[in-house]
Amino acid sequence: KHIQIDAAQVDKGGHKHFMAKEIAEQPTVLTSALNYYLDETGITLPDPGLDFARIERLTMVACGTAYFACLTAKYWFEQLAGIPVEVDVASEFRYREPPIAPGTVALFVSQSGETADTLAALRYCRDKADRIVSVVNVAESSIARESDLPLPILAGAEIGVASTKAFTCQLGVLITLALKAARDKGRIDDTELATHLTALRGLPGLMNIALDQADRTRALARKLAEARDILFLGRGPMYALAHEGALKLKEISYIHAEAYASGELKHGPIALVDKTVPVIVMAPTDALFDKTVSNMQEVMARGGKVLLITDRKGADQAAEGVWNTLILPEVDPLLAPILYAIPAQQLAYFTAVAKGTDVDQPRNLAKSVTVE
Ligand code: G6P
Repeated sequence: KHIQIDAAQVDKGGHKHFMAKEIAEQPTVLTSALNYYLDETGITLPDPGLDFARIERLTMVACGTAYFACLTAKYWFEQLAGIPVEVDVASEFRYREPPIAPGTVALFVSQSGETADTLAALRYCRDKADRIVSVVNVAESSIARESDLPLPILAGAEIGVASTKAFTCQLGVLITLALKAARDKGRIDDTELATHLTALRGLPGLMNIALDQADRTRALARKLAEARDILFLGRGPMYALAHEGALKLKEISYIHAEAYASGELKHGPIALVDKTVPVIVMAPTDALFDKTVSNMQEVMARGGKVLLITDRKGADQAAEGVWNTLILPEVDPLLAPILYAIPAQQLAYFTAVAKGTDVDQPRNLAKSVTVE
C-alpha cells in the first residue's frame, strides 16, 4: 500500500492553509526584516545616500493591502518626521497626471513587485521625482529593478492570495524609514531614536502573545460568520488598519465589510447600524482613545454589537456594554497597527474557515495582478 504525501501539505508546515502558516510566521519574518535594517548604531539602509533632510514631500502609491500599508505609513511620516505625504491607489494615480513638485520622493509598495498599475505609476514618476524608492518582497521584480532604491521586506514567499506577512513586514520597513526620516530632519535625537527602535525590536515578542489568542478569536469568528455586514472602526493609524481588516474579511469570507474613521461614523455610516451588524473597534489606549470610545457608545446606543480590540487598560475603562473584547498586550501607540494586524487577520481567517470558503485561493482574486 502506498502512502500518499501531499507536497503542498508539507509546505504548509503542518498548518491547514498557507494563510495560517503565513500569519504564524510573522514574528519570525518581521525579526529578519528588522535585523536587516537595524544594528547597534541605529538604522542602515542598503543605500546610505537617501537623506530625508532635503526631502520635502512623499508620494506613496500602491494597490490593495500594500495601499493600506501606505495609508498607515502616512501617519508615521507626518507625525514623526513632519513630511507631508500623499497616498493614492495606483490605478487612480497613473491617470490623474498628478504634478510632482521638486523635492519629492516617490515610494511604491508592492509584495510581488509586478502589479501593472503600480509599475505604470512608477514609470510616470521617473524623471519627475527626485528619487524612486520601492518597498518590495520579490527582490528581482520589475518594480525593484526600476527603482533607484529598492528596499526588500524579506517576508519570504507569500502563497495565500490574501496578504498577511507581507503587510506587517511592509509596515516594519516603512516605520523604520519614517524613523530615519525623523532623525534626518532633526525631529528626534539619537536617544529618542534608540527608544523607538527598542520598542520596534520588542514587537515580534508582542505579536507572539497576540497569536496566542487564536482560540478566542476562532470562537468570535464563528459568530461573525453569521453576519451579512461588518463594520471596522479606528482612528489615526488604526483607521488605516481598519481598512485592512475589512479588506481581509471580504477577500476570504465574502462578508461585506467596510472601514470608517471613528469620527466619520455619524456623518452617514451609522445609519447602517442595527443589532445584526457587528462593529469591530480597534482601539489601543492612545491619545484619542476616549474619542473612539464615545463613537463606540453611539454604536451601542443603536443596538450595534461591538467587538472591542484593545489592551487591558482600555478594556477596564470601556468594555461595559460591549458584545465582546479581545485583549492585546500594551504597545507603543505608533506600533499598534502592526500588532493589531494579527487579530484582524485571524478574525478574517477563522471566519472564512467557519464559512468553508477557499481561504488560500478566494474566488475572483489573483495573487498578482499583472494586467490592468
Ligand atoms: C492583488 C492581491 C492583493 C494585493 C494587491 C497588490 O489584488 O490579491 O492581496 O494586496 O494585488 O499586490 P502587490 O503585489 O502589488 O502588493
